[in-house]
Amino acid sequence: MPKIIGTVIVLAVLGIVGAAALIYSGSFNVAATEKHYDLVHSVIETARVRSIKAHAAGMTPPTDLDNQARLVNGTSHFAEHCAMCHSAPGVEAGDMAEGMYPKPPVLTDVATHYTPGELFWILKNGIKMSGMPSWGDHGDDDLWNTVAFMERLPGMNEQDYGKLVMAAMAGGGHHMHSGGAMDMNGMDMGQETPAPVGAGQKTSSGGPRR
Ligand code: HEC
Repeated sequence: MPKIIGTVIVLAVLGIVGAAALIYSGSFNVAATEKHYDLVHSVIETARVRSIKAHAAGMTPPTDLDNQARLVNGTSHFAEHCAMCHSAPGVEAGDMAEGMYPKPPVLTDVATHYTPGELFWILKNGIKMSGMPSWGDHGDDDLWNTVAFMERLPGMNEQDYGKLVMAAMAGGGHHMHSGGAMDMNGMDMGQETPAPVGAGQKTSSGGPRR
């Protein structure tokens, strides 16, 4: 018995020394172009999903989440802050998203994987070491509206999206950033203008992926 314990301790120490050597030698490659090994990828994926589910437990959505005004405001928020990374129906994500790792997933089916409370938690807190920002400085109402939008994304086509964007613009957008109805200048604008019919079918083909 003591022999087994001794062996376990030696193996544990060797493991720690090995990991330290790997880290300090710099041989672990942090390049965004270098994909994780499948095992590492599935560990990170499981940790992310388990963490979101645990932390968002008990988060209750407002009772009027399916309200049309929420959907319109959520569309505006999404077009302005999210589409540049995640794309939207008929709208490709921006160049920046192409070079990211993990790559921001297309969110068509995201509402079938997470509850509204979990989606809200993701928006409010962001996701560490991934490039998904926290939007905690945006009001809770804006975030719930964006959740309302994601709830309606499955099955939304580019015409539906275009109409919602128009309705949002007619209403002045969810909030003013720099005087314009929907901040058409600079980084924040994303790709909110609906593309012509037939352009970029990227979002119609499935759920989150990287
Ligand atoms: C700078 C790019 C970027 C922006 C802007 C961004 N995201 Fe993300 N988002 C990401 C990345 C990258 C991930 C993937 C995280 C991961 O896999 O660990 C992600 C993940 C997510 C997820 C979880 C997806 C899943 O399948 O687990 C949701 C939901 C989400 N984002 C919604 C949004 C919304 C809504 C906005 C706008 C308010 C937004 N994101 C803005 C990059 C971005």
